[in-house]
Amino acid sequence: MSFTFRDNIEKMRGYTPGFQPDDPAAIKINTNENPFPPSPRVFRALARLDDEAIRRYPPVHWDEFRRVASDVHTVEPDQIICGNGGDELLTMLVRCCCDSNRPLAYPVPTYSLYPVLAAIQNCPTIEVPWPDDFHIPAELHDNKAALTILCNPNAPTGTFVPVSEVADLARQIEGVLAVDEAYVDFAEDNCLSLLREFDNVIILRSMSKGYSLAGLRFGYGIGSARIIEAMLKVKDSYNVNAATQTAAAAALTDRDYFNKNVHRIKKQRDRLTHGLRKLGFDVPDSHTNFLLCRPAGLSAQKIYEELTQRHIYIRYFNTEVLQNKLRITVGSAVQNDALLTALREILSVK
Ligand SMILES: Cc1ncc(COP(=O)(O)O)c(C=O)c1O
Repeated sequence: MSFTFRDNIEKMRGYTPGFQPDDPAAIKINTNENPFPPSPRVFRALARLDDEAIRRYPPVHWDEFRRVASDVHTVEPDQIICGNGGDELLTMLVRCCCDSNRPLAYPVPTYSLYPVLAAIQNCPTIEVPWPDDFHIPAELHDNKAALTILCNPNAPTGTFVPVSEVADLARQIEGVLAVDEAYVDFAEDNCLSLLREFDNVIILRSMSKGYSLAGLRFGYGIGSARIIEAMLKVKDSYNVNAATQTAAAAALTDRDYFNKNVHRIKKQRDRLTHGLRKLGFDVPDSHTNFLLCRPAGLSAQKIYEELTQRHIYIRYFNTEVLQNKLRITVGSAVQNDALLTALREILSVK
C-alpha cells in the first residue's frame, strides 16, 4: 500500500497525551477552548429542532446563518461561506488555490495546520520567519504564492498586526490573502474593513473560541463573491450539519452574551498574565485567549511534565523556534488559580 500524505509532519493533532475526558480533576487548557458555556440561546435553538430538521439533509448554503451573519457584519449573504470549523475553510482554500505549481505562503511560527494542508495538497510552501517585532516580514510582500495565510492575531505567539499593514500586504501580493481571524474576538481590531477595498482577501472566523462552540464545529469566511464561488466548488454538499447551523445562528445573534463572554476571558487573561509574571515567567501581552510564555526556574519541558502528572494539560511544542516555551489557554478563575497553585508548588515558591 502507498499513501500520498507524509504523516511525519505532525503526528498528534487533536490528541492530548494522558487526558481522560471523564476525569473530573482534569484541567484542559491546551487547545484554546473557551471555559465558559455558550449563549443560552444555543440550547433553546437546539431544543427547538424538529424531526424534519433531523430527517432531511441540512441547508446546502446555510441560509439562516448567512442571513444573520450578513446583518451582523453588514455584508451580502453570498459573501459568506460556512465550514465544519475554521479548519474546514482552510482545507477548502488550500484545495481551490494551491497545487504543485501554486505555493502556499505564511509567516512562521504560526498555526501548525497550514503545512499539513500543503502536504496533503502536494503544494510547495513559502515559510517566512516573523521578525522579532512581529511586523509583517518584508519577504512576504513579494511572494509568488497562490495563497498567503496571515493568522491575525497569530497563534501561537498571540501577537497582532495592525490592519493598515495587512492592507499593504493585500495590495502587494498577486494571489489570495486569507486572514485567519480565529482569535480575533479577543483582539481590539479586525480586518473586515479590508473587504471594501480588496477582492483578493478572505477573512476566516471560528466560533470555537469567543462563542464557546468548539464541540459543534462551526467557522465562516467572508470574502469577495469571486473567492466564495471558487470555494463552493470544492466544498462537500452538506458540510455543516443542521444542529450546528441552527446553534451557530443563535449564538451569533446574542451580541450581549458574546460581549460578556469575551470580557470575562480578557479579565482572566490579565489575571493569569500577572500571576505568571509574578512567578518570573516571561509573558508577552496576548491578543488571544492563550499566553505563550517562557518559564523561569525550570525548563518548559519539566514544567509541562509536572503539570501533566497533576492532570493539568497545557501545550509544549518542543520545536527549535518555540524552544523552552509553553502555550497556556486562559481558563476560568478556578482553573487559572489551580494552575498558579500547581506552578508555585512545582517551583517551590512560598
Ligand atoms: C489559528 C487557528 N485557525 C483556525 C482554527 C480552527 O478552529 P476551528 O476549526 O475550531 O473553528 C484554530 C483552532 O485552534 C486556530 O488555532
